[in-house]
Amino acid sequence: MSTMSDSNRVIIFDTTMRDGEQSPGASMNLHEKLRIAEVLEEMGVDVIEAGFPIASPGDFEAVNEIAKLVKNSTVCGLARASHADIERAADALKPAKRGRIHTFLSTSPLHMKYKLQMEPEQVYNLLIDSITYARKFTDDIEWSPEDGSRTEHDFLCRCVEAAIRAGATTINIPDTVGYAIPEEFAALITMLKNRVPNIDKAIISVHCHNDLGLAVANSLAAVKAGARQVECTINGLGERAGNAAMEEIVMALKTRQDYLPYVSNVKTEHITKASRLVSGTTGFVVQPNKAIVGANAFAHESGIHQDGMLKNSQTYEIMTPESVGLTESKLVLGKHSGRHAFREKLKDLGYDLGDNALNDAFKRFKDLADLKKDVFDEDIAALVDDTVVRTNDRIKVVSFEVLCGTNHRNPKAELELEIDGEVKRASAVGDGPIDAAFNAVKALVPHKANLQLYQVHAVTQGTDAQAEVTVRLEENGKSVNGQGADTDTMVASTKAYVNALNKLLVKRQKTAPSALSA
Ligand code: KIV
Ligand code: ZN
Repeated sequence: MSTMSDSNRVIIFDTTMRDGEQSPGASMNLHEKLRIAEVLEEMGVDVIEAGFPIASPGDFEAVNEIAKLVKNSTVCGLARASHADIERAADALKPAKRGRIHTFLSTSPLHMKYKLQMEPEQVYNLLIDSITYARKFTDDIEWSPEDGSRTEHDFLCRCVEAAIRAGATTINIPDTVGYAIPEEFAALITMLKNRVPNIDKAIISVHCHNDLGLAVANSLAAVKAGARQVECTINGLGERAGNAAMEEIVMALKTRQDYLPYVSNVKTEHITKASRLVSGTTGFVVQPNKAIVGANAFAHESGIHQDGMLKNSQTYEIMTPESVGLTESKLVLGKHSGRHAFREKLKDLGYDLGDNALNDAFKRFKDLADLKKDVFDEDIAALVDDTVVRTNDRIKVVSFEVLCGTNHRNPKAELELEIDGEVKRASAVGDGPIDAAFNAVKALVPHKANLQLYQVHAVTQGTDAQAEVTVRLEENGKSVNGQGADTDTMVASTKAYVNALNKLLVKRQKTAPSALSA
């Protein structure tokens, strides 16, 4: 609990599942979004922007299901300045304990002229109409003047004043194209505070994109100038170069209390888990030198640094790894560990599995413990994620073998898949073992989806580590990410490919697997 006054509290608004998902390839399915929402709520995030309900039935369903699930955070849905958008957002948010409609309209000369093809006066009237209409559904209305940082100041002040008069309770100033510079962006917030007569009736929020690498700096400068909500995403996921990274914002607030005397509600020890979840789900790898969550963020390689660290960790460490939830890789369970210990371990790691999933995961854990000398927390997490990811799959890998090496110019894969309960077999050759494996899958499940990404990541160190593979497939402009984990990289790859196909099937709802290429 914070000891500071409410005036120093910064509301953390997460838009990983809305703006974050807008990055090409970063699609998440309902199950994945529910898991992310759970983790965000556990972390203490104040507002979760769960999607753009009118954008697709999938977005509507995600906002609606998250609204049912989440109890402590406010759940928010995005809407353009139209009655249809606002009604759809309000419908999706109906089950929410606390629901917010976030409506937006461009106000910069460029956007008004070319994107909206509207006169400023029309924009002004439309924003009043949309906010007034949204107020019929909830008192919690956020309004954003899109491209706010490139909007003429007089017009921005008029619009913001009118938006608050119409009932907006949060005014979010977006740097939509990541154009602002910190001093300039802070001055914009100061200008609004000085010139908009009713500004004290709303919370000022900021939403910064990272095109110039300044999203976090701009957000923090705005907080110093009086903004009290920051919109951000886990790992900085988002359109183009992304949004302000939540982990960087909250750790800057926590670490530099001397200069930034503001607090957030976020329990920073959950950061690493959230980062791994979002990266694993989207296939967007975190760069090793990324602040806070990169693999090297707390690694000290040089002898001088290591020496300093041993004498006093503060010599080279401004935050502790524990403060972001990064603990030593723990050796957990061995092959003699029982179901009870396994269940307790899962609880510690934040998993709450039903009986069937628990049985599957336990069986896989036993198999893994037979293969791998040391089983770590990360192994258990990868194994459980892998089991959960596959729960509703219509196509399952039954068996897989591949023949490859210097003596096999054309590697050959033998594959058995269970498709809607029926086991089918195929063999195929390829340029390499992965190509052969994927060709065998294609022989059993013909399709025309394009492979956009194939990525392997080692869960722990050592040559006996599990491989975690992500496969991204694209079909008709829609992409899905499949995941697979196994100590055998070929098996993990085949599982990931099959998982991606299952997700494509769900997107097409109720089609027979053989009709994937139709
Ligand atoms: O970047 C942007 O302007 C947005 C708005 C919808 C807030 O994402
Ligand atoms: Zn944005």
